[in-house]
Amino acid sequence: MGTGNLAETLGRAWASAGHSLLVTGRNPQHAIEAAGRIGRAAGAADPADFASQVDVVVVAVAWDGLEAALTLVGAGEGSLAGKTVIDCTNPVDYATGELKPASGSAAELVARTAVGAHVVKALHLFAGGSWPYVGPQDEAPVVAICGDEPAALGRATALIRDLGGRAGMVGGLTSARQLEEAAGFVMRVVTSGHNPRFAVPNVDPAFLHVPRTTN
Ligand SMILES: NC(=O)c1ccc[n+]([C@@H]2O[C@H](COP(=O)([O-])OP(=O)(O)OC[C@H]3O[C@@H](n4cnc5c(N)ncnc54)[C@H](OP(=O)(O)O)[C@@H]3O)[C@@H](O)[C@H]2O)c1
Repeated sequence: MGTGNLAETLGRAWASAGHSLLVTGRNPQHAIEAAGRIGRAAGAADPADFASQVDVVVVAVAWDGLEAALTLVGAGEGSLAGKTVIDCTNPVDYATGELKPASGSAAELVARTAVGAHVVKALHLFAGGSWPYVGPQDEAPVVAICGDEPAALGRATALIRDLGGRAGMVGGLTSARQLEEAAGFVMRVVTSGHNPRFAVPNVDPAFLHVPRTTN
């Protein structure tokens, strides 16, 4: 869901992993063009026909258009009920890194709007062009994810694996605000001219003595 940069770059990476995709957005021409750039594995769908044709929905829409985009695909009427919905939105002021929702998170807004959907927050911290990752497995990017539905978390984990990444489960969907705040930090590091990959401590797992989150 979305016809911009992230939809296209993730779409290309998943297409090369063997998935077939359907692109939708408020502008049908943008959807056709994005699907065309992804390649033969992708088609374009009218928002009204989209939900019934997909198993997993990846939300790659600007924060300002999030509710409108969900409404367009019938999410308020339950069109996404029971489906895995992976929210990649960064509800962040790109200049200041400040989080835009006064409380909660974009992912929780998706869960409230998309009646019955199984929402997972994931993939928002990495530029779409980071994928697919093809280097050594022990250096594969760790994608922090959170959500409440085990089956949806499993599907997101498998899709992240298909990008070459490793999913790192951090908790239930209420953790999404913290994951979204991290995007603000990443953007501040980028605008200061540094690679955010090197802006966090390199912790040797052998010295980790913290409780692991299991859900
Ligand atoms: N680009 C990345 O590498 C990256 C990485 C991680 C997370 N993200 C997040 O992913 C989301 C998409 O980013 P992007 O880079 O793909 O942005 P983008 O290239 O600007 O595309 C934005 C998409 O949102 C749609 N949109 C904007 N306002 C809308 C509205 N009011 N109603 C319905 N749809 C609307 C646009 O539709 P139109 O084409 O009709 O304008 C377009 O499909 C953002 O939340 C961003 O923070 C991006």
